[in-house]
Amino acid sequence: MRKQYSLFLSTITCSLLIISSLNAQIYRPSAAVEERVIKLLDKMTLEEKIGQLTLYTTDWGSTGPTIREGYKNDIRSGACGNLFNSHTVGFVRELQRVAVEETRLKIPLLFGFDVIHGYKTIFPIPLGEAASWDMEVVERAARVAAIEATAAGLNWTYAPMVDISRDPRWGRVMEGAGEDTYLGSRIAEARVRGFQGKKLGDPDAMLACVKHFAGYGASFGGRDYNTVDMSERYFRNYFLPPYEAAVRAGAATVMTSFNDYDGIPATGNKFLLTDILRKEWGFRGFVVTDYTSINEMVNHGVAADEKGAGELAINAGVDMDMQGAVYQRFLAQSVKDKKVSMLQIDEAVRRVLRLKFELGLFEDPYKFCDENRQNAQLLSAEHRAAARDVARKSIVLLKNNQDVLPLKKSAKIALIGPLGDNKSELIGNWNGAGNADDCVSLLEGLRNAGASATFARGCEVEGGMSKDDLAAAVALAAGADVVVVAVGEKAMMSGEAASRAEIGLPGAQSALVLELVKTGKPVVVVLMNGRPLAIPEIADNAGAILETWWLGTEAGNAIADVLFGDYNPSAKLPMSFPRSVGQVPVFYNEKSTGRPYDPNSKWTSKYIDMSNSPQWPFGFGLSYTTFQYSEPKPDKTTYKKGERLRVAVTVTNTGKRAGEEVAQLYLRDMVGSVTRPVKELKGFQKIMLEAGASKEVVFTLTEQDMSFYRHDMTFGVEPGEFEIMVGGNSSDLKRVRVTMTE
Ligand code: BGC
Repeated sequence: MRKQYSLFLSTITCSLLIISSLNAQIYRPSAAVEERVIKLLDKMTLEEKIGQLTLYTTDWGSTGPTIREGYKNDIRSGACGNLFNSHTVGFVRELQRVAVEETRLKIPLLFGFDVIHGYKTIFPIPLGEAASWDMEVVERAARVAAIEATAAGLNWTYAPMVDISRDPRWGRVMEGAGEDTYLGSRIAEARVRGFQGKKLGDPDAMLACVKHFAGYGASFGGRDYNTVDMSERYFRNYFLPPYEAAVRAGAATVMTSFNDYDGIPATGNKFLLTDILRKEWGFRGFVVTDYTSINEMVNHGVAADEKGAGELAINAGVDMDMQGAVYQRFLAQSVKDKKVSMLQIDEAVRRVLRLKFELGLFEDPYKFCDENRQNAQLLSAEHRAAARDVARKSIVLLKNNQDVLPLKKSAKIALIGPLGDNKSELIGNWNGAGNADDCVSLLEGLRNAGASATFARGCEVEGGMSKDDLAAAVALAAGADVVVVAVGEKAMMSGEAASRAEIGLPGAQSALVLELVKTGKPVVVVLMNGRPLAIPEIADNAGAILETWWLGTEAGNAIADVLFGDYNPSAKLPMSFPRSVGQVPVFYNEKSTGRPYDPNSKWTSKYIDMSNSPQWPFGFGLSYTTFQYSEPKPDKTTYKKGERLRVAVTVTNTGKRAGEEVAQLYLRDMVGSVTRPVKELKGFQKIMLEAGASKEVVFTLTEQDMSFYRHDMTFGVEPGEFEIMVGGNSSDLKRVRVTMTE
């Protein structure tokens, strides 16, 4: 079933983007395609088959895209059937021409790229978009990204990244949806729908690739590529569901992860790639490795050489080798040595060919190579307007003492800080084909809004602060009505290989903010960063704080919309912000322990030098208005297993402005055969309320929502008592008990 609905009720003038919301629908190869795949497979040599399992990157030089000569020859001989990082119509067209005109079997290439948060029009980083808690917004961002990417030659994106992480030291939290399994699963589905569009085969639909399978976000110490180990129960309850949700929403491909899990690298892990992914979940697309992760199994120490690593990979269920050239160099020999069966190779090739057929590449290999579309769609006014709307919906208001915000446009604003007139960092890491020059800086955004702002850098993101720079900043602040300070991280400080052991503001930025506070002027801190930061002094001393992540092309305009109240902030944190890195991992759905926290008892689970609570909890975010929740009302307090439970709550806008609120429902299973979290998100709804207005929000809980991996590792419910909690963030909740009977 397919539901069409139009979106985009923003005040920005913008034509409608039609988004199709598919009900979760797992990818199934079509019967028509199957016959063609079998016929083609029959004609292929072993080398040509392995070519379809091989993926190479092209490069990007100062003059534009380039390809290594050896790879081009490999395409000609059929030894390489897929490319990544190749984009722009002219370049893709030429490479596709080689594949379909100069090879024996004329099989078109797949063209992959990391289209993570936009192609040319850059949207907020995924963690930022997740803060919108708005699935239409998330889907729309992915849809626009796919429309642009497919207009520039691409047909495959390496997204969504759905790795749950509770560790802000891990730089890749910027690419995901944060710490929560439920929110992460809904976002995973929305992104798959956005990228793949109404159906594969449409000219603006691209293959999604769920990554990184699996558990990559749980690396020890938050250090990238590090070991992952945890019980299977914990893994299944908290880490696997978003991958499954993405697969069930139709994701056509899956990428393995660099880490090991339970001692077995994910890229050679049959339990993950075959038993869970294919047998349990019924995944029918293909699996690609992460970058050279087959080769890395030698470093992991589970294979003596690359040939052995390749055998581990294909026998575990890996279909395509990204950049490692292991399959290309060794797989034919492995077949001769009877370490790998032809059956296994054929199955992998079929999976790849099916999707090339589904995309329609055999009918028209150049279907994603249309210059007119490329010219018309990249960075169109419509896409920029969408990016601005998504960006402002991703901004979290963390603090607003004495209603410092919103600002008056007539106020004299001193804009200070290293990111105040910056563009390049604001498009963030993994910024596709985005250009910094197209990005609106905060200074430009303030001026576009008609405000008069003066600017001083104060300091750089990293390093110290000179006396002169500080003096200039303080002088500027002294002459202004209000100080807006833009501080944070550089784009390369979060993302891959960007773990940080300290997660405060780098360099002298905190000192700069504190000096500005001393001027006595109201200080509004605008954070621009890719991960939760630990900034207790800023939290205590700033007048107002906005978490703006890296918002992309329209960053400056979107922040100005919020600063001036043209948009009332509505986002909520998708990840807890710790007070100190020493609390990490700190996340909301912890267990009770046998000695739950008691401030008056030393012998309970706590720190002696700091509170257990984070600085700002999961789900937290303020608005320029206020909301009140009624007591939650279940439709019955005792109900039978298998029945649905409806819980109603009335939310009232008690302030003076219209605003949106994310009503959140959490659940606790009071007694289980295994320990259960003190709360788990199981529902949320974003609603708009005029000042003074009330609305009843109704949540429906199913048996699935109450289920978990029980003592015997079966998935299901255990009747008994449940606590239902409803409110505007994970720590401020109203509670009611219900009982489920057999
Ligand atoms: C990253 C992946 C990415 C791939 C291709 C790897 O280093 O881990 O997330 O998709 O490169 O660019």
